[in-house]
Amino acid sequence: MTGADKTKEFTTANRAAWEEAAPIHGQQNQARLIEEFSRPGFSCLDQVETNRLKALGVEGRDVAQICCNNGRELLSVKNMGAARCVGFDGAQGFVDQGRELAKAGGLDVEFVCTDVYDIDDGFARCFDLVTITIGVLGWMPDLQRFFSVVAKLIKPGGALFIYEQHPILEMIEPADADTPIVWEFSYFNKKPYVETGGLDYYGGEKYDAKPATSFSHTMAEILMAGIDSGLAVEHIEEFPHHISNTWWNVEKSGIGLPMCYTLVLRKNI
Ligand SMILES: C[S@@+](CC[C@H](N)C(=O)[O-])C[C@H]1O[C@@H](n2cnc3c(N)ncnc32)[C@H](O)[C@@H]1O
Repeated sequence: MTGADKTKEFTTANRAAWEEAAPIHGQQNQARLIEEFSRPGFSCLDQVETNRLKALGVEGRDVAQICCNNGRELLSVKNMGAARCVGFDGAQGFVDQGRELAKAGGLDVEFVCTDVYDIDDGFARCFDLVTITIGVLGWMPDLQRFFSVVAKLIKPGGALFIYEQHPILEMIEPADADTPIVWEFSYFNKKPYVETGGLDYYGGEKYDAKPATSFSHTMAEILMAGIDSGLAVEHIEEFPHHISNTWWNVEKSGIGLPMCYTLVLRKNI
């Protein structure tokens, strides 16, 4: 856990790094996504996420996505029949892309550009379901405060759905499929990881980038941050498949590590 000032320092610097990455990601994905979302009912969600969301029930529900990036997942949830949908992301570049995709699909989805730690209190208890997916928790310097902010958004009886990279992956430097895996970091490592080669996890190109700092959180820390925010664990499942664009070396190794998990936390009525 870091103090509020230190947290702000990290998230402000990371925001600049994400703004720098947004046009690079846009160049790789936006034209294809515009075409895909112009098809009614399009979804970019995989079967694991789709099944879990269907089990939770999204039809007619108010849904928020935290760190929604270009909004493609939230727009897919809207296409599953969700009611009000609001995506929060700190980078204006991604929010603009999300609005463009919503327009292409004729989808009524709101996007709010804000640091997650500063989400406006006006959104408190507005959502039946809040989602967090693929590559979010590692950007949070203060996990406990992050979960408190997120828990506040959920209506009584509503749920938080997480589909994330497994924390065990933080022990290994991500690399291409032919690079052997090396156990480099302790599972309990608390030293922030600074990336200066850029955030192009689509094209894999390195550039002289603004520094982006990420953080390791163990599974127990993630669960306890949720529990300490007043949420109850309803479901957890670990999977061997790869959901990021980064740990190709772990995927190829075939040694059977958990690579991702789904987690549902419920707020009391
Ligand atoms: C790796 S992306 C993952 C999001 C999404 N699941 C995806 O696959 O595109 C991380 C996103 O989190 C956003 N982000 C990181 N830290 C943030 C913060 N403190 N507040 C708001 N957004 C943040 C970044 O701008 C980026 O769009």
